[in-house]
Amino acid sequence: MWKITSLSFLLLVNLLLQRASAETESSVAPMDKAEKEALYSVIRDLVGVRWNGSDLYPDPCGWTQIQGVSCDLFDGLWYVTSLNVGPILDNSLECSSDAKFNPKLFHLRHLKSLSVSDCFSSRRQPLTIPSSDWERLAPTLESLELRSNRGLAGQIPANLGQLGNLNSLVLADNALTGELPVALAGLVRLKRLMLSLNKFSGRVPAPLFAGMAQLLILDLSSNYLTGPLPASLANLSSLLKLDLSNNQFQGSLPPELRKLTHLSLLDLRNNSLSGELPRLESLQDLLLAYNPWGGNLLEFEWANLQNLSTLYLSHMGLRGAIPDAITSLKRLRYLALDGNQLSGGVSAKFSHLPYLTALYLNGNNLSGQLEFPGGFYERMGKRFASWNNPNLCYSTALAIASGINAPCGVPRCERDQQHSTEESKSSQLTENGSPEEHSALWRGIIILVVLL
Ligand SMILES: *[C@@H]1O[C@H](CO)[C@@H](O)[C@H](O)[C@H]1NC(C)=O
Ligand SMILES: *[C@@H]1O[C@H](CO)[C@@H](O)[C@H](O)[C@H]1NC(C)=O
Ligand SMILES: *[C@@H]1O[C@H](CO)[C@@H](O)[C@H](O)[C@H]1NC(C)=O
Ligand SMILES: *[C@@H]1O[C@H](CO)[C@@H](O)[C@H](O)[C@H]1NC(C)=O
Ligand SMILES: *[C@@H]1O[C@H](CO)[C@@H](O)[C@H](O)[C@H]1NC(C)=O
Repeated sequence: MWKITSLSFLLLVNLLLQRASAETESSVAPMDKAEKEALYSVIRDLVGVRWNGSDLYPDPCGWTQIQGVSCDLFDGLWYVTSLNVGPILDNSLECSSDAKFNPKLFHLRHLKSLSVSDCFSSRRQPLTIPSSDWERLAPTLESLELRSNRGLAGQIPANLGQLGNLNSLVLADNALTGELPVALAGLVRLKRLMLSLNKFSGRVPAPLFAGMAQLLILDLSSNYLTGPLPASLANLSSLLKLDLSNNQFQGSLPPELRKLTHLSLLDLRNNSLSGELPRLESLQDLLLAYNPWGGNLLEFEWANLQNLSTLYLSHMGLRGAIPDAITSLKRLRYLALDGNQLSGGVSAKFSHLPYLTALYLNGNNLSGQLEFPGGFYERMGKRFASWNNPNLCYSTALAIASGINAPCGVPRCERDQQHSTEESKSSQLTENGSPEEHSALWRGIIILVVLL
């Protein structure tokens, strides 16, 4: 009993000493009083009125730091430089159901980074992004991230365009609507602009990109954007990744895109695009699937894209033969040509591509014999698909032992079949299963892995 008491006494003394020394420290470098009050108000309005900052965190930049808040010294006083609210770590601050922006946010004089995620949930009266005062944060704010806030609706306020020092703007996965404001053209230092998974509509204003020569990543995917792709995309001369997938863009690609000489990812999946593909030699990942492209894309000079690793051209209404040039893209990992109207044969040269791990040719009108060695089917497994090509068969001439490594859903060529027994035929039938089901799942996984 005595032992326990003395132990707790020691702990208490220790605590008091710590507290005293921390207090002298913070009196050496105290926090600006208005700044402290602003910080408490902003957090309280996000996490709920029961959060009493002055009680819980009397010295938020010193000995009682708040998870998600970072500070720095300016002229001998502490100021908040970074504020992060959302379930990032176990002990992160979490939003209450009636979270809102407190106007004192704009009084944080040295704020560099603001992030609020999984916060404003769906509610009867949706919340909007504050429409004024952002210019007060302009001298310091470099990163603004409002992500996965299902109750954050309304338009992007033009006032955000005042944030001339911003290098990252992420407003992804909210419920934002309206057109993209031209005023965002003021964000001339941006390196990353991510507005995916919202409900933005209308055309992308042409002048938007005029000054964004430093932009590396542009993601406008999964919105309702329409109209042709603006030629001014070519103003983004540093761009590495362009994702416009899952929108309603239409028309042909502007030839000016060829000026994007650093572009490594171009994702235009699931739009209404067509036309000629500009020669973009730096491309590693090209995803154009689910566009009514039609016709002659395969006449493109693929040999110029030697760095190509992902080529996703499914469901594009493509006709004609698979060009031989594609079989010489040495870095190819993922090739999907399924759901087109391709005809002609399948080159055995695909089996020589050292990194190829997925090849989808199903749902075309390919014909003739598949002449891959048995080891190729084994290596590819479910990531090789060639079913639903009525005139295609596989040859057993190249060491396919008893159908184990045979391609799924494709019959043996007649010439070989004459030698086969009834037994191996029936084993082949059971294997066929429901190839489409396998494929959809694997496809998702593989494309994720490849892109990561
Ligand atoms: C927070 O706690 C302090 C000390 O217990 C108290 O004086 C103050 O009124 C409280 N503030 C709020 C907003 O509840
Ligand atoms: C931006 O693109 C448009 C359309 O291609 C072009 O006319 C303009 O000169 C470009 N501006 C800059 C600054 O590159
Ligand atoms: C295409 O995008 C729409 C939304 O724009 C979506 O509902 C649909 O599922 C997408 N289709 C494919 C094949 O991804
Ligand atoms: C292809 O990739 C290599 C290495 O990743 C790189 O050095 C080269 O510049 C790329 N080629 C083009 C045309 O971008
Ligand atoms: C499929 O290809 C065969 C030749 O292999 C041709 O006779 C047939 O017309 C084609 N079918 C379609 C729908 O294009």
